[in-house]
Amino acid sequence: MKAQTPPMGFNTWNRFLDSNNAPDWEAITHKSVVDLAKAMVDSGLKDAGYEYFVMDDGFQGYSRDSKGRVQGHARRFRPGVEELVAEVKSLGLKMGIYAVPGRFTCGQQYQDYHGLDLGSLGYEEIDAQAFADWGIDYLKYDWCRAHVNDGLDAPAAFRKMADALAKYAPDVVYSISEYGLFESHKWAPEFTNLWRTTDDLFASWDSLVNTIDQQIGLESYSSPGRWNDPDMLQIGNGTLTFSENRAHMIIWAILNAPLMAGNDLVNMSDEVRGILTHKGLIAVNQDWGGRQGKLIAADGGLQVWEKPMSDGTTALAFLNRGERAVSVKASVYAEAATKLKDVWSGDGASATDSIEVEPHGALLVIVS
Ligand code: GLA
Repeated sequence: MKAQTPPMGFNTWNRFLDSNNAPDWEAITHKSVVDLAKAMVDSGLKDAGYEYFVMDDGFQGYSRDSKGRVQGHARRFRPGVEELVAEVKSLGLKMGIYAVPGRFTCGQQYQDYHGLDLGSLGYEEIDAQAFADWGIDYLKYDWCRAHVNDGLDAPAAFRKMADALAKYAPDVVYSISEYGLFESHKWAPEFTNLWRTTDDLFASWDSLVNTIDQQIGLESYSSPGRWNDPDMLQIGNGTLTFSENRAHMIIWAILNAPLMAGNDLVNMSDEVRGILTHKGLIAVNQDWGGRQGKLIAADGGLQVWEKPMSDGTTALAFLNRGERAVSVKASVYAEAATKLKDVWSGDGASATDSIEVEPHGALLVIVS
């Protein structure tokens, strides 16, 4: 079975957004992309478990080729998609690619990207065959208003590609996104591996807490091979501070969310690398104790999230959304617990000790 633990990897999209969250298409080139894939290996992300390298929107040429296949942009992606996939995979990574169910990619829908027939509508089988031939391991299939532009029905359109993949590329991890517009958590578990639950996450604290709030109540839809996706990581991007970045990783860990980094891996600070590759945080993310983490208390700016761990312990995340530090006691939320371990520092304490949570920050503890 595919994606038995939340997929981990890198996706190119967030890396190439400017401060207005618009993509810098000219910067998205074969070289800049391959450099990121190399950095994924050299920086230690691959060793930490990040395995999929996903080429998002913006690599496509103006039209399909003589076989009806999507091809690389004539100037920015030469020699071509096939060669890009081969080069990334030669680094020991798995490769993902971006496609859409309608006629228009999101780049075309929202950002004036040029092209004809770049979407998979009517090309589902041709595209699935191409993915198989190229050696694609992961597909991000992105809605982009196909209900408006093409009159498509989301469950049916996403299922159509699932069927094509089952026929030609059954090992491909199938990641869909309709931003929660059509409650994909209710039908996507039948035939996809992960589904976006919310709109795009941007690299700011407001966007982060707003996205986190929209994950409340979705925990029962998630299971091994079937993951709620609150969107790709923005760690290391935009205005996020160290404690905000760490809080982001902590909440993605407690939610069993896919961990798809999207920062500039070529120029990554040690601080950001330390968060992305933290063994303890990744271990909580990858652990399945029977349920995705759920919100168990909210008090002013403080949220408490709880997740059962497979060894019988419990992970508790304290998210402080406020502007002042708050003091908490794990024993208030886990009555039977006597001790705790702070996952970030590795330090132990008594469950009845007061512990401090930074403003715009989070603390992840394991209680037993
Ligand atoms: C949408 C998706 C993003 C990204 C872009 C590409 O906005 O939500 O993650 O794939 O499209 O254009």
